[in-house]
Amino acid sequence: AKLKLAVIVGSNRRESINRKLAEALVKLSAGAFDATIIQIDDLPMFNQDLEPNRPESTLRLKREIEAADAILIVTPEHNRSIPAVLKNAIDWASRPYGKNSWAGKTVAVTGTSGGAVGTAVSQNELRMILTNLAGVVVGGQVFVTFKDDLVDAQHNVTNEATRGFLQGFIDNFAQIAGKLAA
Ligand code: FNR
Repeated sequence: AKLKLAVIVGSNRRESINRKLAEALVKLSAGAFDATIIQIDDLPMFNQDLEPNRPESTLRLKREIEAADAILIVTPEHNRSIPAVLKNAIDWASRPYGKNSWAGKTVAVTGTSGGAVGTAVSQNELRMILTNLAGVVVGGQVFVTFKDDLVDAQHNVTNEATRGFLQGFIDNFAQIAGKLAA
Protein backbone atom coordinates (compact mmCIF):
# COMPACT_ATOMS: atom_id res chain seq x y z
CA ALA A 1 0.00 0.00 0.00
CA LYS A 2 1.10 3.56 -0.66
CA LEU A 3 2.06 5.81 2.22
CA LYS A 4 -0.59 8.28 3.30
CA LEU A 5 0.58 11.86 2.81
CA ALA A 6 -1.17 14.91 4.27
CA VAL A 7 -0.25 18.12 2.45
CA ILE A 8 -0.66 21.47 4.21
CA VAL A 9 -0.60 24.75 2.27
CA GLY A 10 0.42 27.69 4.44
CA SER A 11 -1.83 30.14 2.60
CA ASN A 12 -5.54 30.92 2.59
CA ARG A 13 -5.35 32.98 -0.61
CA ARG A 14 -7.72 31.87 -3.37
CA GLU A 15 -5.06 32.08 -6.11
CA SER A 16 -2.25 30.88 -3.84
CA ILE A 17 0.95 30.05 -5.71
CA ASN A 18 1.86 27.70 -2.88
CA ARG A 19 -1.38 25.79 -3.44
CA LYS A 20 -0.46 25.52 -7.13
CA LEU A 21 2.96 24.17 -6.18
CA ALA A 22 1.33 21.79 -3.68
CA GLU A 23 -1.04 20.47 -6.34
CA ALA A 24 1.91 19.87 -8.66
CA LEU A 25 3.76 18.06 -5.87
CA VAL A 26 0.70 15.89 -5.18
CA LYS A 27 0.80 14.89 -8.84
CA LEU A 28 4.56 14.19 -8.76
CA SER A 29 4.10 12.11 -5.60
CA ALA A 30 1.39 9.84 -7.04
CA GLY A 31 3.80 6.93 -7.50
CA ALA A 32 4.82 6.84 -3.85
CA PHE A 33 2.08 8.52 -1.86
CA ASP A 34 -1.67 8.59 -1.52
CA ALA A 35 -1.78 12.37 -0.99
CA THR A 36 -4.49 14.81 0.03
CA ILE A 37 -4.35 18.53 0.73
CA ILE A 38 -5.90 19.14 4.14
CA GLN A 39 -7.78 22.30 5.04
CA ILE A 40 -6.48 24.84 7.56
CA ASP A 41 -8.22 28.06 6.49
CA ASP A 42 -11.42 27.36 8.45
CA LEU A 43 -9.72 26.99 11.84
CA PRO A 44 -10.57 29.67 14.41
CA MET A 45 -7.72 31.74 15.78
CA PHE A 46 -6.08 29.67 18.50
CA ASN A 47 -7.27 30.65 21.94
CA GLN A 48 -6.67 28.55 25.03
CA ASP A 49 -10.14 29.50 26.23
CA LEU A 50 -11.56 27.34 23.40
CA GLU A 51 -9.64 24.25 24.53
CA PRO A 52 -12.15 22.84 27.01
CA ASN A 53 -14.69 22.67 24.15
CA ARG A 54 -12.57 22.36 21.03
CA PRO A 55 -14.17 23.37 17.70
CA GLU A 56 -14.76 20.41 15.33
CA SER A 57 -12.47 21.85 12.63
CA THR A 58 -9.53 21.66 15.05
CA LEU A 59 -10.34 18.04 15.95
CA ARG A 60 -10.55 17.21 12.23
CA LEU A 61 -7.09 18.71 11.71
CA LYS A 62 -5.65 16.53 14.49
CA ARG A 63 -7.31 13.39 13.07
CA GLU A 64 -5.95 14.11 9.58
CA ILE A 65 -2.40 14.66 10.82
CA GLU A 66 -2.51 11.60 13.07
CA ALA A 67 -3.82 9.41 10.21
CA ALA A 68 -0.96 10.42 7.88
CA ASP A 69 2.33 8.50 7.53
CA ALA A 70 4.03 11.69 6.41
CA ILE A 71 3.27 15.38 6.09
CA LEU A 72 4.38 17.88 3.44
CA ILE A 73 4.12 21.58 4.24
CA VAL A 74 4.23 24.05 1.34
CA THR A 75 4.57 27.50 2.80
CA PRO A 76 4.75 31.12 1.68
CA GLU A 77 6.93 33.64 3.50
CA HIS A 78 5.24 36.53 5.29
CA ASN A 79 7.65 39.15 6.60
CA ARG A 80 10.48 36.62 6.77
CA SER A 81 8.43 34.17 8.75
CA ILE A 82 5.61 31.66 8.29
CA PRO A 83 2.10 33.00 7.66
CA ALA A 84 -0.17 33.29 10.68
CA VAL A 85 -2.66 30.84 9.17
CA LEU A 86 0.02 28.12 9.17
CA LYS A 87 1.27 28.89 12.68
CA ASN A 88 -2.33 28.76 13.85
CA ALA A 89 -2.76 25.25 12.43
CA ILE A 90 0.55 24.10 13.92
CA ASP A 91 -0.50 25.41 17.32
CA TRP A 92 -3.94 23.78 17.24
CA ALA A 93 -2.48 20.39 16.24
CA SER A 94 0.15 20.60 18.98
CA ARG A 95 -2.52 20.84 21.68
CA PRO A 96 -3.80 19.94 24.20
CA TYR A 97 -0.60 19.58 26.20
CA GLY A 98 0.60 15.99 26.04
CA LYS A 99 -1.47 15.23 22.92
CA ASN A 100 0.70 16.77 20.22
CA SER A 101 -0.48 15.34 16.88
CA TRP A 102 2.90 16.10 15.24
CA ALA A 103 4.76 13.70 17.53
CA GLY A 104 6.70 11.06 15.62
CA LYS A 105 5.64 12.37 12.21
CA THR A 106 7.96 12.56 9.21
CA VAL A 107 7.65 16.04 7.74
CA ALA A 108 9.10 17.71 4.65
CA VAL A 109 9.06 21.43 3.98
CA THR A 110 9.11 23.51 0.82
CA GLY A 111 7.55 26.69 -0.52
CA THR A 112 7.48 29.30 -3.22
CA SER A 113 7.42 33.05 -3.69
CA GLY A 114 8.17 35.48 -6.49
CA GLY A 115 11.56 36.24 -4.94
CA ALA A 116 14.75 34.37 -5.86
CA VAL A 117 15.25 32.86 -2.40
CA GLY A 118 11.76 33.63 -1.20
CA THR A 119 10.59 31.27 1.55
CA ALA A 120 14.17 30.42 2.63
CA VAL A 121 13.73 32.24 5.92
CA SER A 122 10.17 31.02 6.53
CA GLN A 123 11.24 27.44 5.79
CA ASN A 124 14.07 27.70 8.30
CA GLU A 125 11.68 29.03 10.93
CA LEU A 126 9.25 26.23 10.14
CA ARG A 127 12.00 23.62 10.48
CA MET A 128 12.90 25.03 13.88
CA ILE A 129 9.29 24.82 15.08
CA LEU A 130 8.93 21.26 13.77
CA THR A 131 12.19 20.16 15.35
CA ASN A 132 10.47 20.64 18.67
CA LEU A 133 7.16 19.05 17.64
CA ALA A 134 7.65 16.40 14.95
CA GLY A 135 9.62 13.16 14.70
CA VAL A 136 11.83 13.80 11.69
CA VAL A 137 12.13 16.90 9.52
CA VAL A 138 13.49 15.60 6.23
CA GLY A 139 16.60 17.29 4.86
CA GLY A 140 16.94 19.06 1.53
CA GLN A 141 16.15 22.72 1.04
CA VAL A 142 13.93 23.48 -1.92
CA PHE A 143 13.10 27.11 -2.70
CA VAL A 144 10.99 27.63 -5.78
CA THR A 145 10.83 31.01 -7.53
CA PHE A 146 7.31 31.12 -8.90
CA LYS A 147 6.71 32.25 -12.47
CA ASP A 148 3.15 32.66 -13.76
CA ASP A 149 3.22 29.61 -16.01
CA LEU A 150 5.28 27.32 -13.75
CA VAL A 151 2.30 25.05 -13.03
CA ASP A 152 -0.31 24.47 -15.73
CA ALA A 153 -4.06 23.87 -15.28
CA GLN A 154 -3.49 20.09 -15.05
CA HIS A 155 -1.01 20.62 -12.18
CA ASN A 156 2.04 19.82 -14.30
CA VAL A 157 5.34 21.62 -13.68
CA THR A 158 6.07 23.13 -17.09
CA ASN A 159 9.82 23.71 -16.65
CA GLU A 160 11.62 20.41 -17.16
CA ALA A 161 14.60 21.17 -14.90
CA THR A 162 12.33 22.33 -12.07
CA ARG A 163 10.11 19.30 -12.54
CA GLY A 164 13.10 16.97 -12.25
CA PHE A 165 14.34 18.79 -9.18
CA LEU A 166 10.94 18.57 -7.48
CA GLN A 167 10.59 14.91 -8.42
CA GLY A 168 13.93 14.25 -6.73
CA PHE A 169 12.75 16.08 -3.62
CA ILE A 170 9.56 13.99 -3.48
CA ASP A 171 11.36 10.71 -4.18
CA ASN A 172 13.89 11.36 -1.40
CA PHE A 173 11.05 12.24 0.98
CA ALA A 174 9.12 9.08 0.04
CA GLN A 175 12.18 6.91 0.56
CA ILE A 176 12.84 8.30 4.03
CA ALA A 177 9.16 8.25 5.03
CA GLY A 178 8.93 4.66 3.80
CA LYS A 179 11.89 3.55 5.90
CA LEU A 180 10.50 5.28 8.98
CA ALA A 181 7.01 3.83 8.46
CA ALA A 182 8.35 0.27 8.09
C1 FNR B 1 4.57 38.79 1.56
N1 FNR B 1 5.42 38.32 0.56
C2 FNR B 1 6.73 37.98 0.87
N2 FNR B 1 7.53 37.29 -0.03
C3 FNR B 1 8.78 36.91 0.32
O1 FNR B 1 9.47 36.28 -0.48
N3 FNR B 1 9.29 37.23 1.55
C4 FNR B 1 8.58 37.91 2.49
O2 FNR B 1 9.05 38.14 3.59
C5 FNR B 1 7.25 38.32 2.15
N4 FNR B 1 6.47 38.99 3.04
C6 FNR B 1 5.12 39.15 2.81
C7 FNR B 1 4.28 39.61 3.83
C8 FNR B 1 2.90 39.68 3.64
C9 FNR B 1 2.01 40.14 4.77
C10 FNR B 1 2.35 39.30 2.38
C11 FNR B 1 0.85 39.35 2.16
C12 FNR B 1 3.16 38.89 1.38
C13 FNR B 1 4.90 38.07 -0.79
C14 FNR B 1 4.44 36.63 -0.95
O3 FNR B 1 5.53 35.84 -1.37
C15 FNR B 1 3.31 36.55 -1.97
O4 FNR B 1 2.18 37.24 -1.46
C16 FNR B 1 2.92 35.13 -2.31
O5 FNR B 1 1.96 35.14 -3.34
C17 FNR B 1 2.36 34.40 -1.09
O6 FNR B 1 2.10 33.06 -1.39
P1 FNR B 1 0.60 32.54 -1.70
O7 FNR B 1 -0.32 33.07 -0.66
O8 FNR B 1 0.25 33.04 -3.08
O9 FNR B 1 0.74 31.05 -1.68
